[in-house]
Amino acid sequence: MKILHVVGARPNFPKLAPVYRAARVAGLDQIVMHTGQHYDDAMSDAFFRDLGIRPPDVNLGVGSGTHGQQTARIMERIEPELVKHQPDWVVVYGDVNSTAAAALVAVKLGQRVAHVEAGVRSNDRSMPEEINRIVVDRLADLLLTPSRTADATLRAEGEPASEIAFVGNVMVDALLFAVERARVTGARKRVGVENGKAVVVTLHRPANVDNLLRLEGIMRALRVVAADRPVLFPVHPRTRTRLDAAGIDAGKVKLMEPVGYLEMLDLMDAAHAVVTDSGGLQVESAALGVPCLTVRDTTEWPETVTCGANRLVFDPVGLPAAVASVRRLAQAPRPEGWDGMAAVRVVDCLRTR
Ligand code: UD1
Repeated sequence: MKILHVVGARPNFPKLAPVYRAARVAGLDQIVMHTGQHYDDAMSDAFFRDLGIRPPDVNLGVGSGTHGQQTARIMERIEPELVKHQPDWVVVYGDVNSTAAAALVAVKLGQRVAHVEAGVRSNDRSMPEEINRIVVDRLADLLLTPSRTADATLRAEGEPASEIAFVGNVMVDALLFAVERARVTGARKRVGVENGKAVVVTLHRPANVDNLLRLEGIMRALRVVAADRPVLFPVHPRTRTRLDAAGIDAGKVKLMEPVGYLEMLDLMDAAHAVVTDSGGLQVESAALGVPCLTVRDTTEWPETVTCGANRLVFDPVGLPAAVASVRRLAQAPRPEGWDGMAAVRVVDCLRTR
């Protein structure tokens, strides 16, 4: 059996790694296709090194652009590759533009598509990722879900039960595999945050960073937090452009270049709390038992909220008090299927369907 993985942007890579490893153990033929949506070393190559997977076999080099341009370029460049390789399964991950573009081309070629992380919804259609999730789940032949909530969502949307398979959360597989290696990177020591007081921040959602008033409000709140404790902010390229253009003062907030997968895990693991608008960090902080404050009014990971690891703080004015009140969880909660074995279940499904 030959499977072709399609990845393109930073959040895809930790999802690919455990599935790639499980498929290798099962002896499947694999092709890793990178669309090139993310191309900076820190946003892409560093992740392949950290995750211990070989570099992609093909890179389509699409780069940045508007949503229309980026999606169209991926579709145009991936089509001849899919025709050439004729995989038994095209495996797509998460919710980025590369996921949707690849799925659309593959199904029209009559190739079977498996979606890892199917059924995840924020119910906020202003997010480009939500549109990608809906489109991919309508198209895919195999819907591999990370949670029972996702199963229920897909059934409510009319997907046949025969196409839905609960496998659990592959991001947790990647984390459990890497966490010990992360703890010896020395990242927390290098930035001097070994005392468990620091707050680790990431922001990149258009709704937060493309809206100047909102970005200013969040940075104002972070400056208040930084008066009491270290605030580390590895800055996504999109956010860096906005901060520079608006000349926003970071005060004592430590702005950093984006960090690799292992360093980020180590910084989170050492932190008092994580403040983010990322989907992946909500899952990873929950899996580490580190409190997460999500600067949004919706989440695609409701189980992180119900297990007590995550809280939505939409109004940035509330952030300093929220940071002061959270406590690290005595034990990291493990929703069903967040057990380090999800990728093995993914590969079992691919082999038996
Ligand atoms: C994409 C994903 C988002 C994911 C995020 C993680 C979509 C719709 N969105 O958003 O779900 O959470 O990746 O990072 O697919 N840039 C660089 N170097 C790079 C990549 C991007 O400088 O390697 C800059 C470019 O100026 C680019 C901007 O970042 O225009 C945005 O990149 P893009 O891939 O379009 O979207 P993200 O905001 O990264």
